[in-house]
Amino acid sequence: MFKKHTPAELVCDRNCVGRMFVAFIRRVSKNFLWLRRLSLAAGSINRPVFSSFSQTAGVISMARRSAKTKSEEDIIAAEATEETGVEVAEEMEVEREREEQKPVVEGLATLREAGKRAPRLFGIASGVEGLDDLFFTTEIRDGKPVKKPLGGFPSYAVVNITGVPDTGKSLMVEQFAIKQASMGYPVLFVTIESPAPFVAAGLRQRAMAMGIDYEAVQDRIVLVDAASYAILRHSLPTLLNTLAHAIKTYETKSLVVDSITGLYEAREMMARDIVRTLFNFAKKWRQTALFVSQKRSSHEQLSPEAAGGYAVSHIVDCSIVLSKVLITNRFEAKLYKAPVGEVVRLFRIDGCRLCGHDTKTHLMEITETGLVRIGPPLSVEIEE
Ligand SMILES: Nc1ncnc2c1ncn2[C@@H]1O[C@H](COP(=O)(O)OP(=O)(O)OP(=O)(O)O)[C@@H](O)[C@H]1O
Ligand SMILES: [Mg+2]
Repeated sequence: MFKKHTPAELVCDRNCVGRMFVAFIRRVSKNFLWLRRLSLAAGSINRPVFSSFSQTAGVISMARRSAKTKSEEDIIAAEATEETGVEVAEEMEVEREREEQKPVVEGLATLREAGKRAPRLFGIASGVEGLDDLFFTTEIRDGKPVKKPLGGFPSYAVVNITGVPDTGKSLMVEQFAIKQASMGYPVLFVTIESPAPFVAAGLRQRAMAMGIDYEAVQDRIVLVDAASYAILRHSLPTLLNTLAHAIKTYETKSLVVDSITGLYEAREMMARDIVRTLFNFAKKWRQTALFVSQKRSSHEQLSPEAAGGYAVSHIVDCSIVLSKVLITNRFEAKLYKAPVGEVVRLFRIDGCRLCGHDTKTHLMEITETGLVRIGPPLSVEIEE
């Protein structure tokens, strides 16, 4: 029933298996080399693991070469050089590690030297009524601390504005862009949710509602349409190069990103890296930055937690939380001074590492013309 193989057929079968094995090794070897290059470029992947990959890759690459040889002598010669291949790979690895361990002298500075490059702290007008005086510095007069309103967001701050949908995040950053542009300061506006023409329509409305001449601000707001150009969302280096080009060309002073969450949709474990990189970018280019971040349904409304967890609020200088509450009972109606069935909006500065700030929860209003306005603190409302 079963066909008996002749010795010649068995040799043939073995050769077939051998060829399949070599083909498999080639494919795997390609992947290892690719991974190896990636790890070296990233400089952040576990060395011991890849060191062993390197050896394997060295052996395999030599094996690939040896697979091309026909005679047994060639195979023996190739095996001998495999050892040399591994040694060379190891030496290169050691050399690379030595280079990476060199001290980064440029990263050192005395306080005096670093202080010379320290940014000046002043207010950057937000364009939001009731917000600018919620940030302050403190002066000592006659031995007593005296609060001095900053008059806006702290200069060169990276501010995170977070909240559930429809809480006024986009309105707030649009008002900021219009206000800054009207004061003569060009703004770089990265739109990730809405395509540029739609943002333009919104900005025109904000300008009208704020009583600002739209004609005068049009050339001072530079839109980066990451909603329409996917590469700007998916490749952070491409986005940063585009922003750097715009900052140099238009000499922008502030940066708006609506929203950074769109840069790590479906890959929230990247949030920390992406936000850190953008944060460093804003600092390097001395931009006062507003990053909008979106909350997930599981996040507590009044906390600074957003998509990516606390990554955003940990990294940025300042977090602002916007929320809304549907009044459902008498107690809430009394607390928020609004009838049952109405939605009230709340505003809170969660923290700011650059200056003092108000810590109360404020009522917030979105006017009929679509402007965000900060109202009185909730505690005062309760006392009344
Ligand atoms: N032109 C306008 N006139 C009146 N009200 C407006 C206008 N534009 C927006 N609003 C109101 O403001 C709300 C908040 O809008 P906004 O786009 O700022 O929300 P958001 O927090 O950015 O939401 P999302 O997370 O979905 O982007 C809207 O749901 C709407 O009720
Ligand atoms: Mg929005």
